[in-house]
Amino acid sequence: MVKRKLREPLEDRKGNLYFDGFSVEELAQKYDTPLYVISEKRIRENYNRLYNAIVDKYKDVHIYYACKANPNLTVLNVLQSEGAYLDAVSPCEVFMGLSSGYTPDRILFTGTSVRNDELKFLADAGITINIDSQSELDRLLKIAVPPTISVRVNPEVGAGHHNHCITAGPQTKFGLWEEAALKAYATAKKARVERFGIHMHIGSGILEIDPYLQAVEKLLSIAKRVHDELGIDFEFIDIGGGLGVPYQPEDKELDLSEFVSKVVSLFKSKVKEYHLGKPFLCIEPGRYLICDASVLLTTVNTLKITPHHKFIGVDAGFNTLIRPTMYGSYHQILVANNLNPKNTDMFDVVGPICESGDILAKDRELPQVVEGDVLAILNAGAYGFSMSSQYNSRPRAAEVMIRQGKPVLVREREQFQDLLTTQRITQQGE
Ligand code: LLP
Repeated sequence: MVKRKLREPLEDRKGNLYFDGFSVEELAQKYDTPLYVISEKRIRENYNRLYNAIVDKYKDVHIYYACKANPNLTVLNVLQSEGAYLDAVSPCEVFMGLSSGYTPDRILFTGTSVRNDELKFLADAGITINIDSQSELDRLLKIAVPPTISVRVNPEVGAGHHNHCITAGPQTKFGLWEEAALKAYATAKKARVERFGIHMHIGSGILEIDPYLQAVEKLLSIAKRVHDELGIDFEFIDIGGGLGVPYQPEDKELDLSEFVSKVVSLFKSKVKEYHLGKPFLCIEPGRYLICDASVLLTTVNTLKITPHHKFIGVDAGFNTLIRPTMYGSYHQILVANNLNPKNTDMFDVVGPICESGDILAKDRELPQVVEGDVLAILNAGAYGFSMSSQYNSRPRAAEVMIRQGKPVLVREREQFQDLLTTQRITQQGE
């Protein structure tokens, strides 16, 4: 019998899976599946672990939660109550932030290919913008001259768990290269912008420290040039998000104390060496704060054996969790009522979507399941619900949060009718 090692907030109670103190099977029964279950406690722990580790070394720190990872309003509100700031990439994410308790001064916008009406919305709302191109800056300055401008630079180093998630370096559309960044700051200064920040984001799901160190070094060398050549002081320096988390059971966690001591030490020494004053150190984690704070529950409905595969058919597909299909990502799967199985076999876990790529796990060793069993897909909190869709006209899943010791529904399951509300059938001649 294999005794599984589970990470918090997962627990093995006599072979049955519990999440933040609640039976996963009972949650599935009460709220139906597919269901995202979120742990408030784990979100708070993740935030405080990271904040305390950094603040210990550098007291002027702001943690901007990257809303795109999971924009549920209660998630945003929980982080806001801990003191988090918000990293938004679209006007609606700004709207979500404002609707969940963030004041405009606690929101930073880092968009790309931003429209003029969106720039106006941000300027009117008093949101600080990380500029992603000279084009965006020129168009913004025609609309309004904001008190603060930050420039997203491309530090020429990228990293990430998949090519799609590398957001700096030679191949990406993001950020301004060194000379272009200098030009953007000169433009903003000439337009009488008063306060400045500088920003980078090199990628997502990074488990190595070296790329960060190289990128922080480059970012600060660009900051030095802007400071020396244009006389600009920085109110904040934002080193982006990207902190990886373990997905495979044997993956090691990012060594947080090593990350903080190396990255923050480098930051501090360069800020001092380059006479950059006392800027806020900003960091923008999404995944790190929310990933392991949520599981996706799905029910087995079909067992099918073909000459080539043993399929387990479940009610969540790539409409509910797209990461395995989109990036080939691994998500651990547990059978809720059979954590320490005697017999296992190799299965493909597949969803209800009419595409062959609708595979949550391929050739996965799992215990024999029966129809009606509940599976828990781990690490579903980041980029799970937020990337889900209504493809195949399937209403999106519900979200429940274990909050102050009890489960509460924080997003209702969509109904058929919800897919019709924005559509019209026009009559002939209309
Ligand atoms: N800041 C900016 C400007 C970003 O573009 C991102 C992520 C983050 C912060 C947060 O990165 P994190 O700490 O979560 O790694 N859908 C992909 C991830 C794409 C992330 C893109 N940008 C996935 O499921 O892995």
